[in-house]
Amino acid sequence: MNYYQVKYRDLTVNYTPVLDGGGMTFGQQYLEVIRRKLGRVGHVFEYCAGPGFIGFSILANGLCDKLTLADVNPEAVKAVKATIAENRLEDRVTVYQSDCLDHIPTTEKWDLVVSNPPHFDGEQHDYQAAIRLVDPGWEIHRKFYRDIKKYLNPGASVIFQENAQATSSEDFAPMIRENGLQLVEVFRTDGQGHAARPDKRGSGTVARLVRETVRETMLPIEKALMNSRIERLLKDNDVYRKLSMLPIFTPRHLYFMWSKAQTA
Ligand SMILES: C[S@@+](CC[C@H](N)C(=O)[O-])C[C@H]1O[C@@H](n2cnc3c(N)ncnc32)[C@H](O)[C@@H]1O
Repeated sequence: MNYYQVKYRDLTVNYTPVLDGGGMTFGQQYLEVIRRKLGRVGHVFEYCAGPGFIGFSILANGLCDKLTLADVNPEAVKAVKATIAENRLEDRVTVYQSDCLDHIPTTEKWDLVVSNPPHFDGEQHDYQAAIRLVDPGWEIHRKFYRDIKKYLNPGASVIFQENAQATSSEDFAPMIRENGLQLVEVFRTDGQGHAARPDKRGSGTVARLVRETVRETMLPIEKALMNSRIERLLKDNDVYRKLSMLPIFTPRHLYFMWSKAQTA
């Protein structure tokens, strides 16, 4: 397989444009978030990892010692395996093909979980057409929060990157609390990873209506682009990559949800 490649310091990550769900661009905000909120951690897990842009970049920047990744898409797992082999990371990086956490052994124990998961609610048929985008009935989030505790070291953090045009933190807060995690903070960044104004858009009828409208127009557009030649042309391109890293083009509608396992 001839992969496209992006470099994080001395680590080369293999991918194809259709596996990129934003981790190469806005997902890189995690670096500053981790530096500011946690500092270096031991073992990181990237959930819904795709090619692992976020996890590999955290590793390459010396912010963790070990990395585990998982995705349901076998093509994403193949790309990750190619990255592990090419960079000789067999002793530090593990990948699982797994529907949510279903096929990950509980011998895995993590200090930090990161994820840019599918951000839009939808029907099963939307999910089949667009597994990068759609979480039908929030099943991928719900199952994650239901099962994650047994993989967490005491005091471990879970930080998800979410999309305020599709959700508010209130969609996920009950899942966090019901499963014995503590919600630490919901925050936006200014595009560079610096904490910005907190997420205040969660509640209210107007906010909900705006979100519904945006979601109903965005999802069909994104679905139409997905896997198309237009998407490949757009993303297979250094100009795209550079522009989408500039703060001015970085989506402002992303937010992070930080939760924590209880300390022992
Ligand atoms: C928004 S994309 C993010 C990809 C990559 N992390 C990035 O940031 O570019 C969401 C990812 O979730 C994966 N996914 C969808 N359903 C899943 C499931 N049931 N279990 C695990 N991963 C899933 C998709 O294959 C896709 O790679």
